[in-house]
Amino acid sequence: MSTATGKQFDQGLVNTIAAETQMSFIDGEKGILEYVGIDIDSLARNSTFEESTYLLWNGRLPNPTELAAFEQQLRAEYELPAGVIDMIRATPADAATMHTVQTLVSSLSLFDAEADDDSPEANIRKAIRLVAKTPTLIAAFDRHRKGKEIIAPDADRSIAGNFLWMLRGEEPTETMVRALDVCLVLHADHGFNASTFTSLVVISTLSDLYSACSAAVGALRGPLHGGANEGVMVMLNEIGDMSQVDGFMKGKLERKEKIMGFGHRVYKAYDPRATYLKTFAEGLARDTGNMPLYEMSTRIESIMHEAVADKGIFPNVDFYSATTYWSLGLDLDLFTPMFALSRMSGWTGHCIEYLKNNKLIRPGAAYVGPHEVPYVALCDR
Ligand code: SDX
Repeated sequence: MSTATGKQFDQGLVNTIAAETQMSFIDGEKGILEYVGIDIDSLARNSTFEESTYLLWNGRLPNPTELAAFEQQLRAEYELPAGVIDMIRATPADAATMHTVQTLVSSLSLFDAEADDDSPEANIRKAIRLVAKTPTLIAAFDRHRKGKEIIAPDADRSIAGNFLWMLRGEEPTETMVRALDVCLVLHADHGFNASTFTSLVVISTLSDLYSACSAAVGALRGPLHGGANEGVMVMLNEIGDMSQVDGFMKGKLERKEKIMGFGHRVYKAYDPRATYLKTFAEGLARDTGNMPLYEMSTRIESIMHEAVADKGIFPNVDFYSATTYWSLGLDLDLFTPMFALSRMSGWTGHCIEYLKNNKLIRPGAAYVGPHEVPYVALCDR
């Protein structure tokens, strides 16, 4: 619908293309996701989070020397400024995890002399700091809130391996590290999703990368977006066991309540990330004694297929990431912070890309209120 000014009205920007990008391509009808032309299934099977981040930021895969150098740049930035550690220690143990992540991501700017330097070189250095430090601040807060000693990052470990090390202080198994690394690859980027678009709105004003990414964390928190993976786990715990699945789902569907982990603004086919995650979730669930969760999930999936597949509603990335993260032993309220940890790669990459051809993002609004209303003095109201 065109408004008086000739602008298109598009609630939720469903039919709006806001900019060009070379980072990720999504075909919602066919269920295709590519990072710089490489399909997500190949990346999940063969790549690492660090390599996929290099790909997203540089538009090509690194050669061995480039990958080693990039990994070193990231590892050199794992540590948190002492002031941020003090802030973590001052954070209430019962603080909401995503509020804490948003606050701490923003606090990194207070200790970065380049915070307001928006040169491409400084932005890349800040992007590396944000990707490298977000895992550390999440793990440090989790240790703090449990009354445990904060564990320093280990620069001999990958981002996935280092996160599990800092979280528990125990040697993670290779299977666990690989499972987490695959989740980070799968969640790294996804076009102009709500949180990425949030970061673009902020960076388009020529604000800074820390402001853009902490705003993006706020958007990701919502249950319609990144918060869905936590919502899936809450639902599985609420159902309890397989005998309750059918009755629970019947009630939800009759009440037309949204089922977390299903549906997508773009995918009207199976989310390709869910395809790979499902196989991973099964293997991990089997190894960790969580098969009942996985079996409940597959039962829910078949009920949903019967009920709403014809409306293009299929599992999205969050549905099987819930069982995967649970099997990894992550607390439920760490699921969405894991999403933020990974998507930091996409947020920073898109901000740097957008700045190359910046345009302030400022859509119109269709005013539907009154006109020519007289001002009535207070004493006459
Ligand atoms: C992510 O955008 C991205 O790329 C996001 C993401 C990324 O990587 O960044 O992929 C990550 O956020 C995945 C989505 C996680 N969210 C959820 O799982 C929450 C549950 N899903 C829904 O809230 C919903 O599917 C949305 C919000 C994801 C998308 O919804 P839309 O495009 O705004 O469509 P809609 O809400 O208007 O629904 C259209 C119809 C409605 O039915 P009718 O009123 O037409 O009869 O589909 C129904 C909805 O009721 N529907 C669902 C449903 N999702 C949509 N019905 C039951 N369960 C659901 N989950």
